[in-house]
Formats: sequence, structure tokens, C-alpha cells
Amino acid sequence: KKAKCIIEKDYVISETDPRLFGSFIEHLGRAVYSGIYEPGHPSADEQGFRRDVLGLVKELAVPLVRYPGGNFVSGYQWTDGIGPLAERPKRLDLAWRSIETNEIGIDEFADWCKKADSGVMAAVNLGTGTPADAGNLVEYCNHPGGTYWSDLRRRNGHAQPHGIKVWCLGNEMDGPWQICHLSADDYGKKALEAAKIMRWVDPGIELVACGSSNARMATFPEWDRIVLEHLYDQVDYISLHSYYGIRDAITRDDFLGSFVDMDRFIQTIIATADYVKAKNRSHKRLNLSFDEWNVWYLPEEYPDWETAPPRLEQIYTFLDALVFGGLICSLLNHADRIKIACLAQLVNAIAPIYTKRGGPAIRQTIFYPFQQVSQFGRGQVLRPLIHCPAYESQAYGDVPVLQTAVVFNPESGAVNLFLLNCDQHEDLEVQLDFRSFPAVRPVEHRLLQEDELAAANDFEAPERVKPRQAALPRVDGNIATVVLPKLSWNMLRFT
Ligand code: AHR
Repeated sequence: KKAKCIIEKDYVISETDPRLFGSFIEHLGRAVYSGIYEPGHPSADEQGFRRDVLGLVKELAVPLVRYPGGNFVSGYQWTDGIGPLAERPKRLDLAWRSIETNEIGIDEFADWCKKADSGVMAAVNLGTGTPADAGNLVEYCNHPGGTYWSDLRRRNGHAQPHGIKVWCLGNEMDGPWQICHLSADDYGKKALEAAKIMRWVDPGIELVACGSSNARMATFPEWDRIVLEHLYDQVDYISLHSYYGIRDAITRDDFLGSFVDMDRFIQTIIATADYVKAKNRSHKRLNLSFDEWNVWYLPEEYPDWETAPPRLEQIYTFLDALVFGGLICSLLNHADRIKIACLAQLVNAIAPIYTKRGGPAIRQTIFYPFQQVSQFGRGQVLRPLIHCPAYESQAYGDVPVLQTAVVFNPESGAVNLFLLNCDQHEDLEVQLDFRSFPAVRPVEHRLLQEDELAAANDFEAPERVKPRQAALPRVDGNIATVVLPKLSWNMLRFT
């Protein structure tokens, strides 16, 4: 099969906001305990943080990490996680039916983020929590001192404020599974009052309203419209969440075309936000925070009330990494409206990093496309003109066999392309037409391709699946030609 891709350097979608490469750590399973934190582990630092995990997180160059949930946040009393360790209560976590020891709270997490060269994106509890609790947390984290909550932070060993800029107003409040789930109207009213208090405490913060938990929700996109009608003036972003997997009659054809669904979801939320903007006669443009996205289809069955049990420990295959690559291209291609995105999650629970308690930390297959895009996907995202064949999928209709994102760095002249050939049967010869560039020189072609779709990394063979260097494209004048093997993820770099 053949495809053509015309790349014009003036067709700029947007500069990527570095926060597009964010991630997420929830108090869930072993994400925190024996994920980022394991006192006694050979690599643990003086605070009990695993240095091996910190090293891998730095390889991903994650600029902010959403915390502490997720479903967990809707039953979380943040005051349980501050102060002397010995006095912190053990609680039932009703979201994940486990025991929360509260050894890690907001202070320790802020410390961990610093060590990871990252920042906190905090979520407040709008389930069992009140708007006043949310305001107190902002005061505890961001107020310099001289008040009850800020002085308590100082007494707890943090003289300097954490300076947390981005705050989520609850989590997935449209979902009946959420602790104290609300209707759109009730959530809109509660979140509005929380937003007012939080901004009065710190006018410098940015706020994210809860959008739909996924595009399959019966309330989508009405939820988003109603919520924004309450909150448009008070918030900076609306959230989107979506996970993709082979389940619910989703075939492999559909799974590979997940990016088509993600594109439509994003476009619908943009349209909904812009509708409310028009209705409100507003001049403000609301951006999107895709603050939970990933591949996830592990069926879950687990015993109740254990401490840090293995939960949501999806082992990612090569096929999953392909689908993941398609999704991350969709995020880049909407860089004009998506300013924040969080890969859900970061360690152990549906995560690119997988640890053994007392043992090593390894890179799962999805680690690689994320790392490549985080490292080489910063710059101006260009909108290429693509001619390519498509196949028909049951769930999403036409799926182009080529999914791509193009990022240009005007200072260095580098052009980086991320390309998924999701054709299951044929290689794809792609002609890249750089007509507006003076000259192009290929620098590298990193290829992720396996014969076994189910190939995965594990503790026995931690590097079974990883990208390798492939033949550089042929270049003739401004045209480069490359063959993308069937079912492959590729990164091409040119200067
Ligand atoms: O990321 C796992 C869970 O998925 C989160 O807790 C929740 O927000 C979503 O449903």
C-alpha cells in the first residue's frame, strides 16, 4: 500500500504545551506503596522513595503528575495524610476496597515530584468532601504562612509553599461508581462554590472541571454542556477521560482504530465548550485537560481490604503499544485545545513502569512511544495533508491505516514524525513531501515492530520489546520515502 504526506512548515496547529506529557499517580493498588515508595528497598532514598523508579520517571520527562486520584479522591480526607506518620489513621478506601495507610500524603508527594523533576496537579474531593475542605487544602499547599493551615504545613516541615498551580474539581463525578456521585446540575453548583473559595485563597491557580468519564456515558455530552453552563467563567479546562481495550465486542480492527474514537471525543468536547462560550457571550476560550488516557482492558477480580494489593496491573503487549501510539498522536494533533494530558497511570496500575516489591523496575511496551513523543514531540505541531487508504472497522467506521503527528522545531530546523501503520496485512510506503523546507536530512528511524502481537516485557525478559534503529528513508530533493512495516510504530527524525 502507498500513502502520501505533505508537510508544510506554516501549517502550525499549535506549540505543544509541555503539560501534554503529564501523568497520574493514584492511591490505587501498588502505584504509591511499592511503586514510587518502598522503604527498605535497595534503591530507596532517605524518604523511602525508590530511586530506580525515579530514574525511569525522569526518562519519561513528565512535567506534572495528577494526584491523589482518581476514584480514590472522592472519599479521601486529605488531612489524614499530613503530620507525624505514627498518628496518621488507617482507613478503608471505598473506591478500591483496600486499606489506605496514609504513609504518603500531599507533603511527601510534593517532595517526590521535585525529585522526579515534575510538579503536582492536585485533585480535590468533591464526593464526600466539601468546598471548604478544598479551600483549606489550597491554603495548606499554597499560602506562604501566618494562617492556621499554612502554619500547619510549616510545622510539618515545609516552610516553603508547594505552589500547586493546577487543581481538578473532583473526579468523574458523572459516574455512578463515584463515591457521592452527583447529577450534572448538582456537580456544577458544588464545583462552582469550591472554585470560588479555592480562587479566593489563591487567585493564581488554574481549575479543571470534571467532564465526561468517557464518550460511552449515557449523559455524554449533556453532562459537559450543563457543567460548563455553571462553571464556564470559573474554570480554565474541562477534563476528558478515556481508556481503550479489546472488550465489549471491540475487535482488533476497532482496537487499532481507537485513535479515531479519541479524535471524535475531543472534537465533541471542543464543540460543546464552544457552544457554551457562544451561549454565554464569552470571549474566553476554554481548553481541555485529557487527564486520564491509556489502553486498559484487564478484567479485575480482587480480594477486599488488603493494603497495597496488586491491582490494575495490566501487562502491556506490543499490540497495546501500537494502539497507544495512535492515541498519543491524536493528543498532539489537538495541541491547540489540549493543554494538559495525563497518561493514566505512571507506576504499576495501568502504567508504563512496572515494579516488583523488593525487586527491579522495568519499562512496559507503552513506555517507548510515550518516551519518544515526550522527548521529541515538543515544538510546533504541524497539520500534514495525508492521502492514505483506510479500512472499515465495526465500531468506528473508516480507519486510516496511517496515523501520524508531525512536530517542527523552527530554531533547530528539526522535524520529527510519529507514524503508526495500523494495517494488519500490508507494509505502507509513505512519501513524505517536505515542499516548504529548504532541504531535509534523515537522522534516525526508530522502529517498534514484533512478529508476536502479544509480546510483552516482564521481569524475566525486561527488554524483549523495545524500539530498534531501522533503515533511513530514501531522500530525493524534498521528498523522503520510507516503508513502514505492517503493524508498526515509527519515529522518524529529520533536520
Ligand atoms: O485510572 C483508574 C481509574 O479510572 C481512576 O481512578 C478513575 O478516575 C477512572 O475511572
